[in-house]
Amino acid sequence: MAVKSPSSLRHRYHHSRGAPLYLMLVVLLFVVSLYFHLQKLKNTLPNLFSTDPSSRLTSKPSKASTTDVVNAQGTERVDEVVSNLTSVKITNCSGRGLDERSNKKCYVFWSGPPMDGARKGAFEKMKALIEYDCDVFVQLVTRDNLLSFENPERPLHPAVLLQPGLSGVHFSDYLRSYFMHNHGGCYHDIKVLTGPPKLGELFERMAKNESIYMIGAPEGGPEDIGCDHDYARLLNVTCEYVVGKWKSLLSNGMYMVRKQTDFTDRWLSLVEHRLTEKYEMLKEHPSPLAGRCCQGQDTKGYPISWTELGGSALHPVQAVYSNHIQIGFPWFDRGMNYRSITEDG
Ligand SMILES: *[C@@H]1O[C@H](CO)[C@@H](O)[C@H](O)[C@H]1NC(C)=O
Ligand SMILES: *[C@@H]1O[C@H](CO)[C@@H](O)[C@H](O)[C@H]1NC(C)=O
Ligand SMILES: *[C@@H]1O[C@H](CO)[C@@H](O)[C@H](O)[C@H]1NC(C)=O
Ligand SMILES: *[C@@H]1O[C@H](CO)[C@@H](O)[C@H](O)[C@H]1NC(C)=O
Repeated sequence: MAVKSPSSLRHRYHHSRGAPLYLMLVVLLFVVSLYFHLQKLKNTLPNLFSTDPSSRLTSKPSKASTTDVVNAQGTERVDEVVSNLTSVKITNCSGRGLDERSNKKCYVFWSGPPMDGARKGAFEKMKALIEYDCDVFVQLVTRDNLLSFENPERPLHPAVLLQPGLSGVHFSDYLRSYFMHNHGGCYHDIKVLTGPPKLGELFERMAKNESIYMIGAPEGGPEDIGCDHDYARLLNVTCEYVVGKWKSLLSNGMYMVRKQTDFTDRWLSLVEHRLTEKYEMLKEHPSPLAGRCCQGQDTKGYPISWTELGGSALHPVQAVYSNHIQIGFPWFDRGMNYRSITEDG
């Protein structure tokens, strides 16, 4: 896989800590010159750095173990985006009324131990950029505060509270459907953004037009579309139909959703129905990995396949409601995915 694992990043930091000063200076000079070379290269070879989906590196997910999944999405994507973070001035929003009571919120889900190292840095930069105009609040949801977001009229599925139980990725996948139905707002993977995404404008757009149910970033091609045949059947469509609509479908990595529509209700119901079906198996065979299970590793009987609670449910529902879906997340939101949920170990 082309992605640097966060643990390898941590190791590198570790090594540099005790290094002599001159070595650090040499490394610094190298990084600075590399940056300028990349900038030059970027101007001459725009394709290399474009966010054009065809230029994206994708790795194929492993075949689903227990359900029949067509072109399962959920691939790890790395976009070659030159970071411009250093030139962005971050506004300090404290004292300007931006807090968790905001009605413009982006949820980020995290099921593991407290974030640290490179990932924590990535999260904090992302939060600062999303909150840049002091209008959108980034809300981190963990196992510690999850229950405070429960809607008593639509309780959380007990599967999400099992420990051990769902993998980190599936914890987040389920909570996306739960939060988007019950609270609405925005969901965001932990990504390296190259500038403020100005999501406040998208919240305004959605507020003004009640027929918008979802705004997000486009998918790159039919191979990015997930579809589970059973979900499609419950929606009276086929996966061929869903994949054929790929140009209208949105990425699973960040989006904004209107709460409590038929669209969110169906989405959440599909995912919860599947969790109920597999609840007993899940109790017996919890995810062997806290973070990402399972692509290529031994599932040890864990009954939920890679995209089963994510794109394989969301894409069919999007296809059915495609008249209510808008493409609109800014291009630079397709930043490097900071392995959105938890560690592999
Ligand atoms: C970087 O930021 C500066 C200042 O905000 C801007 O003028 C420039 O266009 C940005 N460059 C890229 C590559 O985004
Ligand atoms: C933001 O401003 C508050 C006071 O308004 C201050 O206490 C806090 O340290 C500032 N934070 C940063 C990161 O500068
Ligand atoms: C699918 O079709 C059946 C039979 O026509 C109908 O009862 C059901 O409500 C439909 N489901 C959806 C999600 O449209
Ligand atoms: C409202 O949103 C719908 C769904 O995307 C779209 O078809 C329609 O053109 C929008 N209306 C306005 C006035 O923008």
